[in-house]
Amino acid sequence: MKAQTEFYYGGDYNPEQWDESVWADDMRLMKKAGVNFVSINIFSWALLQPDEATYDFHTLDRIMDMLAANGIHADLATATAAPPAWIARDYPQSLPVDINGVRLLPGSRQHYCPNSPDYKRLAAALVERLSTRYSSHPALTMWHVNNEYGCHVSACYCDTCKLEFRHWLQLKYQTIDRLNRSWSTDFWSQHYYHWNEINLPGKMPTHHNPNQQADYMRFMNASILNLFKMERAILRKNAPGIPVTTNLMGLHKPINGFMWAKYMDQVSWDAYPDPFWNVPYDYFMAHDLTRGLKKKPFLLMEQAPGAVNWRGVNGVKTPGRMRLWSYEAVAHGADGVMFFQWRASRGGAEKFHSGMVPHSGDENSRSFREVAALGQELKKCRELVGAANPAQLAIVFDWENWWALEMDSKPSSLVRYTKQLGSYYRALRELNIAVDFVHPDEDLSAYKAVFAPASYQVSADFAEKVKTYVRNGGVFLTHFFSGIVDSNDRVYPGGYPGAYRDVLGISIEEFAPMPKNQVHQIHTPEGDAEIRIWEECIHLKGAEALATFKNGYLAGHPAVTRHTYGQGAAYYVGTQPDNAYLRKLFGDVLEEAGVQAPLTVPEGVEVALRQNHGYDYYFVLNHTGRQKMFVVSGSYEDLLNGKPEAGMITLPARGVKILKKQQQ
Ligand code: GAL
Repeated sequence: MKAQTEFYYGGDYNPEQWDESVWADDMRLMKKAGVNFVSINIFSWALLQPDEATYDFHTLDRIMDMLAANGIHADLATATAAPPAWIARDYPQSLPVDINGVRLLPGSRQHYCPNSPDYKRLAAALVERLSTRYSSHPALTMWHVNNEYGCHVSACYCDTCKLEFRHWLQLKYQTIDRLNRSWSTDFWSQHYYHWNEINLPGKMPTHHNPNQQADYMRFMNASILNLFKMERAILRKNAPGIPVTTNLMGLHKPINGFMWAKYMDQVSWDAYPDPFWNVPYDYFMAHDLTRGLKKKPFLLMEQAPGAVNWRGVNGVKTPGRMRLWSYEAVAHGADGVMFFQWRASRGGAEKFHSGMVPHSGDENSRSFREVAALGQELKKCRELVGAANPAQLAIVFDWENWWALEMDSKPSSLVRYTKQLGSYYRALRELNIAVDFVHPDEDLSAYKAVFAPASYQVSADFAEKVKTYVRNGGVFLTHFFSGIVDSNDRVYPGGYPGAYRDVLGISIEEFAPMPKNQVHQIHTPEGDAEIRIWEECIHLKGAEALATFKNGYLAGHPAVTRHTYGQGAAYYVGTQPDNAYLRKLFGDVLEEAGVQAPLTVPEGVEVALRQNHGYDYYFVLNHTGRQKMFVVSGSYEDLLNGKPEAGMITLPARGVKILKKQQQ
């Protein structure tokens, strides 16, 4: 596999939208900005293929040659994300159908049914030609399959999908009886006698069968993944050794990232935090999640240089913020920082999306100066390519659980997967604790602590693994509404928290969800803390109470517990406490587990560690608008300016340093 040797910097490059007279200026400005990697051809299908029998690679040839002549790597897209209008005209069944039965029209993008035989045939034919033509082109560095799969269309309700769904179910269950048992169809007279009675979970009078919905999400994820695998097989055959990626979308519910990553040589994702947020933890969490998919560095394939165009009000990245958030990605495992897009478009739906080069073309504009300065500076990060992000704490992340948890008819619709994980992640990040996101099938034994927030659906195998992990000395923590159902979404009998009952040493008599906006308290040794969303009636069965509820009929009952189990300990948080309490609790839990922050830094400053070739690289990022100072022991080199650093370190507002030190 062609190895990465440079730190990648660049963006989506759409020269076909511009007169060729602009191209020479693009090359000049790319050099000025340190650009060495561009994603091309993403939305060029209509240009490459005027009709079914004709292909025209004339413009793409020129673009590829120009990039090669200028020493710029091509992340060559397969262009299959936006089929030409003639495909919709000639093969209208290739268009997707929404839940209301409406067939979606061409004229924007991603207008294809993931199971359409015509779309597949035409996409495969294009990729076949593209990959044979450019397989040994000197600019070709990576394949970029499609674009943001499932971004706009992650479900299709057409007749083709209905038949494919039945087929998929037959393969999965083999017999209709097994499907009936797994779907609990003895409820509401849902029993099926024949596969052809089964529909897609479209519009229905009231609540859907949750298993039908879950299988449909699995089926859609698999259908879209099959498209990726189809293209990948062609690329592999025609251009072996060229890594294949597709740009994922982080916390993107329809696409099961762990499943996809197995087929990706390089994981990449697109991050668009709202610049109005000071510290967008959800996006920061998605960096760690994306790295966790393969436990390898990722590429930040797209971010906005400034504002996007698709929010109601599109905030700009104020001075320093684009740089800070770029280093945030690098600190958490990015080996490349890219943007959407190189030059802001003159026409089309995204013309008010910022570009690395603004509409003015002004290379003295603030935005271009920041883009160019970052590109030059990131050249210093070459030695970071491939660097590891060591973590002693794992957070369990499971798309299947996410889907199951957020089906309707639950005790509280306020319990949302990424919100729960986000609140835990934020508290951990404020403590500067490095985290790895792990899939339930992964080995946990190397981690000193494992957190599993919102772990509603757990397999018996995973619950067993947790027991062994804690018995052997691990520290485990989970929260309310966890351990409840098995992989078929059937409640574990014998009382909550079901699969986690033994390891947690508690039983839960009943849930008492709180109305939106209600705030109660828990009593803790450090004083009262606020709680929201959830209360419940917990009985101790070997665990001890660390905090108790204060309000109503639950007053005095345990709210947060700790259970010694074997050599380890299992913690349970039976509510959603405020951030200050979570920080305090996690601080104690992690102290017990022996997990520490890499450096001590002031509030608002982040520190993250990467390691490569016998060196430690401490990223310190000031997320505040004020200068921050802190003291380090030992001496370091600031990787970004080559200067020595020791003793008192001063970080300007939104400043970044990468402190490099040889490992002992
Ligand atoms: C991404 C997409 C790009 C562009 C960008 C705008 O989702 O991949 O093509 O549309 O958003 O923010």
